[in-house]
Amino acid sequence: MIDQSTLSSKELMQLEDRYGAHNYHPLPVVIARGEGAVVWDAEGKQYYDFLSAYSAVNQGHCHPRIVGALKEQADTLTLTSRAFYNDKLGPYEKYITEYFAYDKVLPMNTGVEAVETALKLCRKWSYDVKGTPANQAKIIFASGNFHGRTMGVISASVDPSSTKGFGPYMPGYVIIPYNDLDALKKELEDPNVAGFIVEPIQGEAGVVVPDENYLPDAYHLCKAHNVLFIADEVQTGIARTGKLLATCGNCNCEKGCERKPEIRPDILILGKALSGGVFPVSAVLADDEIMLAIKPGEHGSTFGGNPLACAVAIAALEVVKEEQLAENAERLGILFRQRMQQLADKSDLVTLVRGKGLLNAIVINDTEDSKTAWNICMALRDNGLLAKPTHGNIIRFAPPLVMTERQIKECCDIIENTIMNFEA
Ligand SMILES: Cc1ncc(COP(=O)(O)O)c(C=O)c1O
Repeated sequence: MIDQSTLSSKELMQLEDRYGAHNYHPLPVVIARGEGAVVWDAEGKQYYDFLSAYSAVNQGHCHPRIVGALKEQADTLTLTSRAFYNDKLGPYEKYITEYFAYDKVLPMNTGVEAVETALKLCRKWSYDVKGTPANQAKIIFASGNFHGRTMGVISASVDPSSTKGFGPYMPGYVIIPYNDLDALKKELEDPNVAGFIVEPIQGEAGVVVPDENYLPDAYHLCKAHNVLFIADEVQTGIARTGKLLATCGNCNCEKGCERKPEIRPDILILGKALSGGVFPVSAVLADDEIMLAIKPGEHGSTFGGNPLACAVAIAALEVVKEEQLAENAERLGILFRQRMQQLADKSDLVTLVRGKGLLNAIVINDTEDSKTAWNICMALRDNGLLAKPTHGNIIRFAPPLVMTERQIKECCDIIENTIMNFEA
């Protein structure tokens, strides 16, 4: 066994390269410790984390309350499978369904498993409740989507790096342009359409924010056609965009949910920050008419709803409420975009700033296959801030939501200085 405490970052990267599959292209930095909005590499150099594990670490690295819940539960009971009841699942199910105001939850582990679950649930509801003829159900997806990496989900992708070489693909899908209500209206004419699945903001596509009316209008169109509106809030949910959910209305969650959502997804998919990044925990929420379409034995997961996950998720959701992370994300997000806009106004390298809350991106003035955004991220790393390009020329900025105003101003200074001094 190797003593990793004696290895340098270089040696640790070589180990991953030698013994791990090459399915990622990480920025060359080896993170060894994290606390709040900050991480340290194997040599002890400090960085601000501006990715938050793709929005999983909204509550900050190693939040003591969440880690405490994990440790306490780990000493008591970790896994029973769903062959038996466990004493943590019922209380967690009550807690999360009241938190998000749904009748029922179906617990899973990773984000993509929750998406798969939602798709299965949608088809099952369509056959059992809506009355769609057997095997005819269709689900509408938006182009540019990212819902994960399973066969069922990549079949809806239009990104060749997700799909190429992995066919044949899942039938029964329709892909329409994102942010296009006319295209949705046209497809909804087909009576076999069972559901429309959408990211409220497309994170992996480069933080693409749709028009203000897109989600509410799409929701009402679905309602009018008895089609399920499925929100994939794996990345946008749990305070990231300045509201508890990106599908929330313009209400205030300061003292808990006011239950005034502009859109109430028929199926809500959560993951990532549901555990504060401590443990893979995901969930599908829906009301009885939909959720009870799946019967005993028809779907499941050995680890879904395990006692560790239940304890961790309750703590993670409590932290979001008690530390008012949605309000913090909203406030700091406005400040961040203002600073980035000032930068875009004076730098030819930045053409666009977009986002909501603390899910933001800048578009770099170069082609998708250029190295400019990657090289800027390398320079940011050298200056103590970690971010990653998406789609070649876009840099996503998504720090933990526990960041303070002083910290975000310091980070804006780092980004500004790096870009103003950047030489391609
Ligand atoms: C919107 C969305 N859905 C689903 C997923 C898949 O989550 P996981 O990687 O936990 O399977 C992601 C991951 O980035 C995501 O952004």
